Amino acid sequence: MGFPKDFLFGVATSAAQIEGAAQEDGRGLSIWDVFSRIPNKIADNTTPEIACDHYHLFKDDVKLMRELGVNSYRFSISWSRVMPEGTGQINQKGLDFYKRLVEELNKNDIVPNATLYHWDLPYELECRGGFLNRDVAEWFGEYAELMFRELGDSVPLWATINEPIATYVGYAKGGFAPGRKLERFGRAANHNILLSHARGVEAFRSVNPKNSKIGIVVDIWHQHPANSENAADVQAAEDGNERTYRSYLDPIFKGQYSPYLLECMEKEGSMPDIRSGDFEKISAPIDFFGLNCYNRVLASAEDTKIETIEQTGGNFLDNGTEFYPKAVYDAIKMMHERYNIKIPIYITENGTYNCNEEIVDGKIHDTDRIKYVEGFLNWIEKAIDEGYDVRSYYLWSLMDNFEWSAGNSFRFGITHTDFNTQERIWKDSAFWYRDFIKKNLL
Ligand code: FCB
Repeated sequence: MGFPKDFLFGVATSAAQIEGAAQEDGRGLSIWDVFSRIPNKIADNTTPEIACDHYHLFKDDVKLMRELGVNSYRFSISWSRVMPEGTGQINQKGLDFYKRLVEELNKNDIVPNATLYHWDLPYELECRGGFLNRDVAEWFGEYAELMFRELGDSVPLWATINEPIATYVGYAKGGFAPGRKLERFGRAANHNILLSHARGVEAFRSVNPKNSKIGIVVDIWHQHPANSENAADVQAAEDGNERTYRSYLDPIFKGQYSPYLLECMEKEGSMPDIRSGDFEKISAPIDFFGLNCYNRVLASAEDTKIETIEQTGGNFLDNGTEFYPKAVYDAIKMMHERYNIKIPIYITENGTYNCNEEIVDGKIHDTDRIKYVEGFLNWIEKAIDEGYDVRSYYLWSLMDNFEWSAGNSFRFGITHTDFNTQERIWKDSAFWYRDFIKKNLL
């Protein structure tokens, strides 16, 4: 059986992580430009100011994709590059950049897959309350509509939001931009980002680009009890799943927050401002579901995690993460069983970091990355063989880039980025992926 003929094998990136040119050609700042300048927020104190300089090097990067043989590329648009203040004034030079990128991709037969929001809110909007302000949905709608009008037809796949949980982390935990730390902020931001998604879908339907589809990307890190015979661990896992991915998928696919989450928010004083009609909008039909899948999580009630993981006989990569490629199969299945989805799934991200990244004689033997990617691809293939409609696999990432709070210290690329010279060096995994694609797209 194997992968269908029109399966998309791609690579994924996001604007803030690769573009650089943070203050060029009229771009406005994003919350990550500002957050990364607060001392000690980023592990190595790097910023997205230059990153991979993709803004200037995009033609070379498309050439690299061509050499890899990928037939699709998932990227995101920097909202503050096209609308420096988030609303109102449009920055033509910013828009032109994305037009040139999309044109270059289409010229090279690489299907563009664009995400409107990958964590980089315009800083000017943060000054107006950011995701704590319900108006953010309208601001997002204005931006989304602009992009659909300008680029709608030449981009077949559009996602409104990438991983809404990052916004929760940014408003409740402080680990991500904008760095706020109240649970009730996190829950308010969550609700408002779901409303933003809804406005984005509405804008898409009204512009109605031909032959394009709209979806959302959610990451599923399913929590399993570290010890399934321990009731407290079982409860910890359930609680974790409720507070994370289900807090997005329930509203989108069931039109509600679960009774459990509602009760938690009530008890914890973090109930968002939910108005009548919200859930109808949030659960409006979408055309595909974007799944980011990196791993599972083992949840334990106490801090006995490490010991218990070892007892499960888990298999680990040298970077310390568990090797559990079945996570992607479980997630695909769960989307059908729990949410009963009838739309195709696109695997929009999967990858791993720091796998023996040392350069020896110009070579990087990232063997663990190959094992990891191959493992996930095998489980995706199994899901397809069983009849699940899965249409893509995007490897995170095309190249090492600005990995948010980890700065440049977490290398996720299949090519190595020399952040001084901007040279991209193929790792073993890049050669492997190229050959895998060649074999499977025959
Ligand atoms: C995902 C993010 C992406 C990158 C990878 C490693 O959660 O969407 O930007 O950080 O993790």
